[in-house]
Amino acid sequence: MAETSLLAALGGLLGRRGLITAPADIAPYAEDWRRLYRGRPLAVLRPANTEELAAAVALCAQSGIATVPQGGNTSMVGGATPHEDGREVVVSLARLNRVRALDPVDLTMTVEAGVTLQAAQDAAAEAGTLLTLSIASEGSATIGGVLSTNAGGNHTLRYGNARDLVLGLEVVLADGQVWNGLRRLRKDNTGYCLRQLFVGAEGTLGIITAAVLRLAPPLRQRVVGFAAVPHPEAALALLNRCQRHDPAALLAFEYMNQAGMALVLRHIPDTSLPLAAAAAAHYVLIELATARARDENGAGDLALALEELLAAALAAGEVSDATIAATEAQARAIWRLREDHAEAQRRAGASIKNDVSVPVSEVPQFLREASSACTTLVPGCAVIAFGHMGDGNIHFNLQQPDDMAAADFLARGHEVMEAVNAVVRRLGGSFSAEHGVGRLKTYMMPAWRGGAELAMMRAIKAALDPRGLMNPGKLLP
Ligand code: MLT
Ligand code: ZN
Repeated sequence: MAETSLLAALGGLLGRRGLITAPADIAPYAEDWRRLYRGRPLAVLRPANTEELAAAVALCAQSGIATVPQGGNTSMVGGATPHEDGREVVVSLARLNRVRALDPVDLTMTVEAGVTLQAAQDAAAEAGTLLTLSIASEGSATIGGVLSTNAGGNHTLRYGNARDLVLGLEVVLADGQVWNGLRRLRKDNTGYCLRQLFVGAEGTLGIITAAVLRLAPPLRQRVVGFAAVPHPEAALALLNRCQRHDPAALLAFEYMNQAGMALVLRHIPDTSLPLAAAAAAHYVLIELATARARDENGAGDLALALEELLAAALAAGEVSDATIAATEAQARAIWRLREDHAEAQRRAGASIKNDVSVPVSEVPQFLREASSACTTLVPGCAVIAFGHMGDGNIHFNLQQPDDMAAADFLARGHEVMEAVNAVVRRLGGSFSAEHGVGRLKTYMMPAWRGGAELAMMRAIKAALDPRGLMNPGKLLP
C-alpha cells in the first residue's frame, strides 16, 4: 500500500480524533523530553481502544511502516521518539486511559497503557489500596511506558521494579494480533513467562495495551526525613543503620549532592533547604513507612523511630544536620527537592546523563572515581549526582561548564559516558539501571550484553517481530 492509501485507510479506521498528520500537531510527538532527538513520523495514531490499535498495526505492517509506541513521552534515552526517515508512525497510547477493574480483595488492578502512573496510584488509593511504584515523572509517565522500560524509581528497595508488579498483560503483536494475557493469578506455572518478555522490551516486541498490576495494603504511617551528611560513606553508614533498625520500615533512601541541590534551589520556584546550617556537600532523604498503625500509647511511632535513628547518626558523625517533616506539606516539599533534579537540570542547560547501578556497598567508591574521571575529562563541568542510593542506582549527570557551548559539551557525551561506564564495569554494575537503553545507549549493548545474551535477545526479536517493524533502532543495535 502506498503511503497516501495507508493514511486514507488509517483515517477510515481511526477517524478524525485518531489520526494526526499536520506537521505542527505532530511536532510534540516527534521530539523527546530531553530534546536530543527530533524525528519525522509519517503520522501520529491515537487509537481509542485495543481493537483499533491492533487493526492500525496490521495496516501499517502490510505497508512495511514501523510503529513507535509513545506514552507520556518522558524517556531519558529517546526510547519513544521516531526516526528521521519518515517510515514510522508514532502510536500514542493516550486514549487508552481507563482503569478497567480494581479488586481490593485480590489486590490487583487492570489498567490500560495510557493511564498515567499518578492516576493509577490515585485509583488504587481511592479503593483503599496502594500501587507501590513511584517515579519522579509519574504525573506524565504512563503505565505502558513504565512497564516497557521496567521503571524503577523511589521504592525499588522495598517493592522492586515495575517488572515485579506485573501479573498479566495485553499486548498487540507485530502482525496486529492481540495477545490477551490479562490473568490476575499469583501462581501460574505454564511455560515461558511471556509477559516478562514485553516488560523492559521498550516496545521492540509488541505494544503493551493493558496490564494487571499487583497492589499492596495501604501505608498507615509515613515519615520523611532529610539530612546533611559529610561524605558518601556516611550516607552508606546511615542506610545500614536504617536497615538494621527496622528493614521493613524503610521505603526510600535517596542521595543528592550539593551541585544538584544548588540547581534545584536556583531553577525550581518555591524551594528551600529545610536545614538550619548552610549548604552541605551531600544530602540524603529517608522515608520510613508501614502498614501498621501506631498504638494508643504511641508505640511503633515511626516519627519517633526516625528521630532516634537520626540522633544516633548525629552522635556517630554520620549526619551533620537533619530534620523530620512535621506535616504532609513539608514531606512533599522535601520530596520536591529530590524529584525536581531532572527538571532543574533541563532548565539549567545541556546535560549528559548516566543512569547506572552498582552494588549498594560500592556507591561511595563509584561516586569518587566517576567524579574524578569526569572532571579530568571536561574541566569545569558540574557533577550532578543523585538518586536511589538504597538500591544502588545513581543518576550520575554532568552539567555543561559555564564557558562551553551546549553543542560542544554534548559532543563529548559518548566519551564521558564511556569514562563513567569504565568505573561502573570495574565495580560490577550496569550501564542502564532504570531508564532503559532506548536510542541513546543501543551502541553499548554489544560491549555489555554481547555473546550469548545478545544472541538470545536477537532470536526473540526475530521470532516476534521478523520484519523489524516494532520500534526499530531502539534497544538492540
Ligand atoms: C529521577 O530519579 O529523578 C530520574 O530517573 C532522573 C534523571 O536521571 O534525571
Ligand atoms: Zn531515577
